This record gives sequence, C-alpha cells and structure tokens, in this order.
Amino acid sequence: MSRIDDLVAAMTLDEKIGQLTMISLGAETIVTGPGATREPSIAELREGRLGSVLNLVGRDRIHALQKIAVEDTRLGIPLLFALDVIHGYRTCFPVPLGETAAFRPDLWEKTARFAAEEATEDALALTFTPMLDLARDPRWGRIVEGPGEDPHVGAVYARAKVRGFQTDDLARPDALAATAKHFVAYGAVTAGRDYASVDISERTLHEVYLPAFRAAVDAGCAAIMPAFVDLAGRPMSGDRALLTDLVRSTWGFEGIHVSDYDAVGELVAHGVAGDMVEAAALALNAGMDLDMMSPAYPQGLKTALERGLTDLATLDATVRRVLALKERLGLFDAPFGRGDPARPSARSRAERRALAREAAAASMVLLDNCDAILPLAATGGPIALIGPFAEAAFDMMGPWYGLGDQEETIDLAQGLRAAFRDREILVAAGVERDGDDVSGIAAAVAVAAQSDVVLLAVGEPAGLSGEAASRVRPGLTGRQAELARAVVATGRPVVVLLTCGRPLIEPWLYDAAAATLVLWYPGGEAGHAVGDLLAGRRSPSGRLPVSWPRDVGQIPLHYGERPTGRPFLDGEHFTTRYIDSPNDPQFPFGAGLGYGSIDIGKPRPATDRLIAGESLTVAIDLAHAGGMACETPIFVFLHDRVASTSRPVLELKHFEVVGLMPGETRTLTVTLPPAAFACLGPDLEPRIEPGLFDVLVGPSADRRTLKGAVVEVGTAPVA
Ligand code: IFM
Repeated sequence: MSRIDDLVAAMTLDEKIGQLTMISLGAETIVTGPGATREPSIAELREGRLGSVLNLVGRDRIHALQKIAVEDTRLGIPLLFALDVIHGYRTCFPVPLGETAAFRPDLWEKTARFAAEEATEDALALTFTPMLDLARDPRWGRIVEGPGEDPHVGAVYARAKVRGFQTDDLARPDALAATAKHFVAYGAVTAGRDYASVDISERTLHEVYLPAFRAAVDAGCAAIMPAFVDLAGRPMSGDRALLTDLVRSTWGFEGIHVSDYDAVGELVAHGVAGDMVEAAALALNAGMDLDMMSPAYPQGLKTALERGLTDLATLDATVRRVLALKERLGLFDAPFGRGDPARPSARSRAERRALAREAAAASMVLLDNCDAILPLAATGGPIALIGPFAEAAFDMMGPWYGLGDQEETIDLAQGLRAAFRDREILVAAGVERDGDDVSGIAAAVAVAAQSDVVLLAVGEPAGLSGEAASRVRPGLTGRQAELARAVVATGRPVVVLLTCGRPLIEPWLYDAAAATLVLWYPGGEAGHAVGDLLAGRRSPSGRLPVSWPRDVGQIPLHYGERPTGRPFLDGEHFTTRYIDSPNDPQFPFGAGLGYGSIDIGKPRPATDRLIAGESLTVAIDLAHAGGMACETPIFVFLHDRVASTSRPVLELKHFEVVGLMPGETRTLTVTLPPAAFACLGPDLEPRIEPGLFDVLVGPSADRRTLKGAVVEVGTAPVA
C-alpha cells in the first residue's frame, strides 16, 4: 500500500474533512473576501481538523504551525500554506495586464520564478496564480489581474506562468504550486459587474475562455480555482460537468480544485443549495477538493454523508487528491524544506530590482508621440510633473501587491529626478487621486506655465482597481479630468503618464496630449522604468493586450469579432455601425509605438497549399525604418475564409518580440503548427476544414496595418 492508501485507511471522518478545509490566518497582511479571519485554533489543528491555511506569512509562523501538524497530530499530515502571489511576493513586478503588454513569455516566466523563489523562502507552497480570465470589458476591475482579451495570448501566458512558478519538479524546495483561476469565463460577468452571472454560448466558452485553462492543465498546473460566479445558472463551484467531466476526465487534470473564498457556502445564496449541507454535497460531488473559508465542508459534510447526499467513496477520492498534491510538493518528506533558513537566497537584491525595472519598462505602452516629443532631452528648461500620481508610491504597486514594500517603491518623482539630473523637476499634485478638492489646480497650472513640458501623472488609484472594483465609467477618478483640462489649456506640451489597471476611457485627453505613456501599475521600480523610457535609455516596446474603447457604449470590445452579413461600409446606412461613434477602439489590440520603427514585410508562406495536418512556415522580412534601435512584437493572424461556423475576422496564432538596430534588416521565420488551422466543428471538437486562409502579419490588430498572403489548406497532396 502507498502512503496515501495507508493514511486514508487510518483517517477518521473528522480528519478527512479537515484535509479538505482551508482557513485564512494572519489577514493583517493581506485583505481578502468578506469572511472574518480566525485566530489559529491549535486544538483544531492538533485534532487533525485543518489541512490548509491561506494568508499566513512569515516562515517562523508557518513553521511553528507545521511543526504542530507533523509532530503533534495523530497522523502527522503536513499543512499546505498558500497565498495570492499575484505579481511578485516581496519584489513587486507590474500587474498581470501590464506584464502581458510586454508580449514576452520569457519575462512572464522569469517574474513568476523570482516570485516563487521569494515565496518559498518564506515557506509558502501554493499560490492562487495565474489568473487566466480573459476580459473584454474594462468596467470589470479584475481585468487588471489577467492576460487581456486574446485566447492565444492567454494560453501562452498560462504555460509561461505555470512553468515559472512550478519548474518541472514540484518537490523542489523553490517550487510554488500554481492555481489556474478563476475557472471559467469570470471575465464575462454581466455588464462588467463583479460576481454577477455569466451567460455565454458554449462556443464562446470553448473558443475564448477555456484555452488558457487547457494550456495550464497541459503545463501541469497543480490546482484550479473555480470562479465565484455561475455560468448560465450553474455556479462553477458545484458544476460537475466542468470540474470533473471536462477538466479531469477529458483533459486529464490530476491536481486539486480549490474553492474561491467562501464560494462553496455561497452555493446557498446562488439558489442551488438549500443549506450548508446541500452546498457541501453539491461541491464535493462536483469535484471540489478544498473548501476555502466557508462553513460548508467543516459543518455540512458529515450530515451530507448521513443523509446520503454524498458518499464515502467520493470523500475518500477527494482526500486522496489533496494528499497526492502534498506528496507531489514533497511536504511529507520535507515539511520544512520550503523556508529552510539554511537555503541561501536565490537572488541578490540587485538582481531582483533589475528584473522589476526591466519588466516595468517592457510593459509600458506609448500610445502617441506627436512631433517626437519623447524622449526628452537630458538638458533644457524645467520639467513639470503634475498630478496626484507624481509621488504615489503605493499606487505604483497596484492591487494584490503581496508583501511589496511601499518604502522601497520608486515613485515617479524619484525616478525622474534620477533620470534627468540636469533638469529641474517641478512637482505639483493639483488634485487628490479620488477626492473633490480642486483648490490645488491653480498652483499646478502655474507650475505648468513655467515649464518646457508637462508630465501629467493621472490615472486610477490602485484601491479602485481589482476585485469588487467594477465601474460604469472607467476613466480618471475624482477631479483629475478638470486638472488635465486646465493643464492642457496652458498650451504647454503635455505627456500623459497614465497609472491604471484597465483602459481608462478619456479620448479627449489622449487626443489633446502630445504623448501618452500607459504605465499600468508598474511595481517597485516604477519611477526608474519611466525614467529609462522618457530619457531614451530604451525604446518603449509594450503593446496593448486589450482593445481600448473610445466610449463606454462600445463595451464589450475586442478585435476578434465574427464577420457579419452587413460589414461596416463608410456611408452605408444598413451596415454594422453606430450612428454616433466609430466602431473602432481608440487604440487597437497591439497598439504602441517605440522611438524607432520597423517595416514589416508581406508574409511569404513556404507554400500556397498545404495538407491538413502540416505546419506552415512563413518568412517575414523586417527592416529598421528609422529612429532608435527598437523592439516590437510582430503579430501573425489567420482568417479562415469559409468554415462550417463563421470564423473571427482575425485570430492571433503567433507573436514574437523582435529587436532591430538602425540600418538592420532580418527575416523572421515563423512556424504555424497544424492546430493553428483548426476550428471547433459543430460538435465543438477541433478539426481542420479545407479551404482558403488569409495569413495576416503586422504590428497590431488594426487591419489597415496588416499585410497578407493566402494559403489553401487541402485534404490531399496536389497531384
Ligand atoms: O485567490 C483569491 C481570489 O482571486 C479572490 N478571492 C480570494 C482568493 C484567496 O485570497
């Protein structure tokens, strides 16, 4: 018999339920969910009625509890310690939406690796990351936590993050088990309102929202967190078809499902369970392994068994999965392996700060640069830094900042002073980030008037982004728009430095400004990274991972629409269009500029006819076209012209950042695998349908910037 067989055979019912129970301790460091946190109940732990803990930080505290679990409980089963390490643990990297804008899987993996090293040095074993919820609705505050709007990007991101956190061996003391969350389509909540219902088609579910999770499972992610919400009336936390039939049986997932905070208990509020007993049975039968912070499993499971709503075999199988994860993590053999004080820190502080600076700079997106106002000269008249984000270190970290330290965060004023030592930096807040006081506007305008250029540091406070932060009008908060209008009215050239976790819809401002640099929430090295870009030490290379609306009424907005029978035709009334706004976003998916530019040639496929099941190699000629050495992502899209179900006008199949020096030319060779040509048939199973495909290549999803070729996919070789 294996260790797990022995344990399950020896466990009491209370001990089994304990293994499925996760409680939050030490929430003074991390604020989550609505439930009250409990002090560690040592008696509960000693009796084996606790299996996992979230939110406890500090290796001494974690090891103290672990010691009780392995030395003072009947069966000595180690505890699993978990935390949301969303964009860094102590070193704070850009928020996920920002990091996605770098389009650099190497960077995505590396920041996850660094975060995992720091978190495991502090004895943590599980994190609730990566968040893989695609989002096409900036009203939803949690868009900040995910990889944007595109399923291909989401899948690549998922693989990179799982690899980065877990490495290829979960038992390593520096491996942090990853949780793909929130399963699934949480980003499609009705009208962008957090926790609201999701009601999307099966096809959209399979084509858009599932691929990133499938990629995470294929990469071996240890856990999945079902979303709080329901999908067409079936709350995910009790949905057996999704959690077990699809994920375990079809995809072969061998990890655990960990509930979101109180989500099992909330099955009652959803109206699919009458009480905690029914909620516990529904979730357990669906395949939910850990109940995070709801009373359902600890208080309801026993009665559910007595009433025959579930059975011992289901309970035992669930306990086995939890124990199997603890075993894969090496917790039985080395319960103090993570957080071992004898293990030296993996990286120096300088290395961590350098990665944070690189990630922040690579994620920022330059949306306009009229008259090449950027980069700014090293010498010249005063630079005004105006706005409530000029000295806002806390906001640079963004939501879910882990143990990131505000004191260690370089704010914009500090970064600019360091980057422009020979220019005077004049700072004025003007208004609060989210208040009504406008008394500082006049002084800010006076500062602007004395300067050569105004850097306008505006945006959305970190506390208004993230979970439970839906907004009907995602734009500048408080009276910042008034400040911006007053500063623009001075006639000084204005460069907007936008701190945000979602597209902020202020089209007039981006039109009026000479340049707009989207910073996102850049993390601990914010100011230095902005300094690097504004001083021209590097060329901006981030690009938008989401379409940026010009009006709230366009939401949901994304580039991958299906063709319509009445495509937009300028001046034609009965075509798909608004009569009061353009259809297009203000800035498309992929938008962004550098200080140099690269000409992207017409794609040259190696063949114009391939057989279904073959890969396609495409050559793309690139030439530096002026300005500084620069990097840019190249996007390769396909459009399947005729299929059994109409295909989106563009589907991203490949992206890759290339860098060219002035005068340099290069040919990029991209191989599209057979699966790139597949679509889901009427049965939602993947298949390749013969016919013509457009191969479209360019710097963004704006069709006007794309160059194309056509290939035919056939079922048999050409005679
Ligand atoms: O992981 C999070 C989740 O994203 C939102 N609710 C709380 C969980 C644990 O902190």
